[in-house]
Amino acid sequence: MDNAYLQIDLNQLHHNIEAILNYREYRCPIIAVLKTNAYGCGMVEISRELDSHRDICMIAVSHLSEALTLRQGGVKKPVLVLTYTKPELAYLAVENDIVLTVVSSAHAQALDALCLPLRVHVKVDTGLHRYGIENLEELRDVYQLQHLRFEGIFTHFASAESYDASEIAFTYQQKEHFDQAIAYLESQWVDVGMTHTQNTPSFFHYPEFEYDAVRMGMALLGVAHPSQYDIMAKAGIKPIFSGHTLVSKIETVKAHESVGYLRSYTAQSDEIIAIIACGYSELLPRNMYQKEGFCIINGKPYPYIANDAMSASFVRVDHSVHVNDPVILFDETVLPFYQFLSFFSLGTNEYTTYLNPDLERIYCRLDQG
Ligand SMILES: Cc1ncc(COP(=O)(O)O)c(C=O)c1O
Repeated sequence: MDNAYLQIDLNQLHHNIEAILNYREYRCPIIAVLKTNAYGCGMVEISRELDSHRDICMIAVSHLSEALTLRQGGVKKPVLVLTYTKPELAYLAVENDIVLTVVSSAHAQALDALCLPLRVHVKVDTGLHRYGIENLEELRDVYQLQHLRFEGIFTHFASAESYDASEIAFTYQQKEHFDQAIAYLESQWVDVGMTHTQNTPSFFHYPEFEYDAVRMGMALLGVAHPSQYDIMAKAGIKPIFSGHTLVSKIETVKAHESVGYLRSYTAQSDEIIAIIACGYSELLPRNMYQKEGFCIINGKPYPYIANDAMSASFVRVDHSVHVNDPVILFDETVLPFYQFLSFFSLGTNEYTTYLNPDLERIYCRLDQG
């Protein structure tokens, strides 16, 4: 075991899935969105865990390379790539049974011109103006292409996490556009296949929206947008991960002695300092000491005084702390992840996206009692 690691509770993952399925009366399968290494939790391991789950109908990732990594890792579920894939790489999708997203009419034509039996979902741009086709006639023309296998259609809401009246109105406008597109295509005898529109914030904000599947990333891993902390906590959804390290050395410093790079901390009196084996290349973003953060050692909070090294940080402690004592950086029972994030004003996605892929992840199944 490394000195700093992320612990991932697979039981909590299953618990979150159940909580999502039970949140509303209308139950539909989940497309597990595991982009950015499953939000730091390990895309292959989480996908393997979900591979035989009957309520997970697909796994979605951002890039074809991620989808290929899942296949190399033995994942059997259908895999959907959510963003643009270069046509010259599309043969890899066919060889590995990966579903691509059609992001524009030109993209559809270029993919179709390959004359391959490519499985695709079509993205409808209903207002985000990122990927997708907005115009209904253009959409119809795409469905007339001969080689693509159209298996699904979806859109993405721009402001689902906002509770402002104007943003809510915009979401309903997007939904209306999507519904109109489906009705129009069906009137042209198109079988649109699986429909899906909702990510985590949209699911919890608009439980009345009913499509064939929901696309969930954050909620599976137990994290929420700040506007939905309470809703998701009430639903029993919690982070599946916790951050850990240990005390690697105890130092005593005298009053006015300095500590850390650029002598970033000066002791006010004689102090005991624990060096903990975790820095900004692992789980502790840089310079958190400026924000009055703390960690938990032997059940007690101790303040960070400097964390400007790659694999070490400094914590002011007392005589009860010893080398090898476990250090909790965040763990729902004693120091919630959101509180930890507040120490350095980072959002969930910003933090998890940049977690070092080489950081050790330890998978376990904790008692949910
Ligand atoms: C198109 C699309 N759908 C679904 C998701 C999942 O979102 P969330 O993690 O909020 O559930 C994402 C994530 O960025 C996305 O880009």
